[in-house]
Amino acid sequence: MITTITLNPAVDKTCTLKELIPGAVNRMEDVKNIAGGKGINVTKILRQYDYPVRALGFLGGYNGRFIEDYLKSIGAECCFTYVNGETRCNTNVLSGDGSVTELLEPGPIVSKEELNDFLGKYEEALTDSEVIVISGSIPEGVPVTIYADLIRLAKEKGVKVCLDTSGEPLKEGIAANPFMIKPNKRELEALLNEKIETLAMLKDKASKLVRAGIDHVLVSMGNDGLLYANKKQVLFAKAPNVQAVNTVACGDSVVSSFVMSLIRGDDGEECLKKAVAISAANATTFDSAVIPKETAGQLYEVIEVQSI
Ligand SMILES: Nc1ncnc2c1ncn2[C@@H]1O[C@H](COP(=O)(O)OP(=O)(O)OP(=O)(O)O)[C@@H](O)[C@H]1O
Ligand SMILES: [Mg+2]
Repeated sequence: MITTITLNPAVDKTCTLKELIPGAVNRMEDVKNIAGGKGINVTKILRQYDYPVRALGFLGGYNGRFIEDYLKSIGAECCFTYVNGETRCNTNVLSGDGSVTELLEPGPIVSKEELNDFLGKYEEALTDSEVIVISGSIPEGVPVTIYADLIRLAKEKGVKVCLDTSGEPLKEGIAANPFMIKPNKRELEALLNEKIETLAMLKDKASKLVRAGIDHVLVSMGNDGLLYANKKQVLFAKAPNVQAVNTVACGDSVVSSFVMSLIRGDDGEECLKKAVAISAANATTFDSAVIPKETAGQLYEVIEVQSI
């Protein structure tokens, strides 16, 4: 079983219209709602490859039920904690002139009792999970040290944790030495408070994190590619040239692919190749966290891994 943790999920609503006029009645031509949040994306991708997944985190209200119904429909087990409040809905308004207006909701505030309920479900999930994937931001009411606590609890039970977050939660989480992290280059620079100018420098920074106790460090660089450092080697692969139409969840694709490689027992080179292929394939469709498998298979054949 793979357990995903999304403490701050969201419904992503995309609306299109000819022209958005502030202060006027605006009629949308098309509206699409999808279940979002990084851990939800990982759940979606792992289900596309038929891996057994259980999703944990906080949901609230109508939006929360929408996300749970969707996850159940794709065969994911749901053990969410329902909070007193409404899960965020993030609205993107796409206007005919090409402009995008984002309306972001604050999301619910989690109470102590709700946090304890989640922790109970988490401890239970640890009993049969091979891997825990923790992704995204932390909602109000939950301490910024939560990821470090979750990592320590998992380690006590011998369960591996993959962590994909940014800012303070990443800084705090790293202190507990997760099994794997996947910052993008920007997130790593913010963590180290330093600009990373070259691949050699990136290799040095990632290797230091490995030596500090994080077994697997993947640093993504958008369409520049992906670096992978572990105890044995540091590898790099350029991203293949694709017609990118939506790069949302490319990072989540890397995390999902890593988890699948971990379970299959792929070696480092294979692991990196698959992650680069799957994430590039994700960028070729308008839907986020939807992997066109045939494209991923074709891209896999052309990806070259170099040892650096
Ligand atoms: N335009 C692109 N073309 C091909 N591959 C891409 C492209 N954008 C991203 N990728 C692949 O996806 C990986 C992850 O992308 P990126 O570094 O943007 O992650 P991220 O910033 O964490 O994204 P997010 O958090 O939104 O999922 C990259 O390392 C690369 O392999
Ligand atoms: Mg990311």
